[in-house]
Amino acid sequence: MDMQHDADTTTNPSPHLFQDQLLKDPFSLFAQMRVMGAVLPAPFPTDAQHKTWMVTRMQEALQVLKDSQRFTLDYAAVEDNELVQRMQSSQGFPLLGRSMLNVDGLAHRRLRGLVSEVFTPKYIEGLRPSIEQIANRLLDQVAEEGCMDLVEDYANPLPINVISDMLGVPHDHWDLVREGSRAIVAGGPITLDDRNAAVRAQKIDAFGSYVAQLVAEKRHHPQSDLISQLVQIEDDGDRLSEPELLSMVGLLIVAGHETTSNLIGSGVLTLLDHADQLERLKADLSRVPRAIEELLRFTGPVLTSVPRLATEKVDLGGQTISRGDIVIVALTSANRDESHFTHAAELDLLRSIDRHLAFGYGIHACLGAPLARLEGEIAFTTLLRRMPNLRLNVPHEALTWHGALNVRGLTHLPVAF
Ligand code: HEM
Repeated sequence: MDMQHDADTTTNPSPHLFQDQLLKDPFSLFAQMRVMGAVLPAPFPTDAQHKTWMVTRMQEALQVLKDSQRFTLDYAAVEDNELVQRMQSSQGFPLLGRSMLNVDGLAHRRLRGLVSEVFTPKYIEGLRPSIEQIANRLLDQVAEEGCMDLVEDYANPLPINVISDMLGVPHDHWDLVREGSRAIVAGGPITLDDRNAAVRAQKIDAFGSYVAQLVAEKRHHPQSDLISQLVQIEDDGDRLSEPELLSMVGLLIVAGHETTSNLIGSGVLTLLDHADQLERLKADLSRVPRAIEELLRFTGPVLTSVPRLATEKVDLGGQTISRGDIVIVALTSANRDESHFTHAAELDLLRSIDRHLAFGYGIHACLGAPLARLEGEIAFTTLLRRMPNLRLNVPHEALTWHGALNVRGLTHLPVAF
């Protein structure tokens, strides 16, 4: 593939073809890109006026993610209004417009610090019994049938149940939350020629209004849930403003839902594809947490970082990046970087991993990682304990993938047990 040519072509004839191929097998494309260089012009133009770079290797990925001064998520800091608007419209704004994932420096430290007060390790560990209950309840519902769609019946509902419970979203509204967050994650700018744009925009709007209504309710009738606690947070007299609070709640829902579902779905398929390793894991379920780290490295659901903007000219991986250029870190690619991992393309559930980038790195490294790890541990352990004969119930070729560029998952995973 002529990456340079594609990157410079503003009317790329087959962006969707590229996406379909990427979703099915991002790994071989990323492997080709790593051979071509650590930093490459992206094979899809994000923006006609601004060059987009893709970072494919671990060392350069760390350089970008560590350096939030020169590679910022605060697009407004680079003072390009047209670009800021385009990038914002692709991320479910205004809902997520004031979240910690859109600011850097002191503003980021403040927002992250405020939510970290509630989101403590003790708080997360305290969720264990209720997550176990949810996992068991979901498996009870299909236990008699001998088969299920692991995505629809287990991987999808588990995280949405957990996060909705945590935030105090009533059961009747879980579908709305799920649809809204899926519409945001679907990504891509909302443009007039996008056939699904109107429906997507509508879902995002409905989700935004719902979050606002929920926050208002918790303000008047606080309970023990996370939103009520966020409403009351004071840090040296520093309160979350209303838009900040809405963005925080929106971000927690969006960031914590599709990602964890896809870790469970893709993770189970990967285990089924590696029968010997799966047998050994089933024989000793205490190895699940370690196995999850390898699954995150091998098939982490978030393919690429949120795009950063270069705040100044930077030399990186043999390329010169100009101020205003867009820089995207291919997390999945860095996680299979042959110069960082031995036998990088192979799954090894016993591998000891010093670092992977499935949760990002640096100041924006995933705030929910301890929760995602706990959900993963419980989801895999409960499933393998209760359904040790788990097997694929359709030919492998029949499986399809969904997602936007940066979050990838299986549409369905029919299994028998
Ligand atoms: C397997 C599951 C998950 C994966 C793979 C994942 C991945 C990531 C990644 C890669 C980032 C950094 C993005 C970047 O720097 O460009 C991130 C940030 C974030 N994640 Fe997660 N995530 C997961 C689950 C969760 C959960 C369960 C929550 C919360 C309930 C959550 C909340 C967040 C938040 C709030 C941020 C922004 C942090 C900041 O800007 O400081 N994530 N996540």
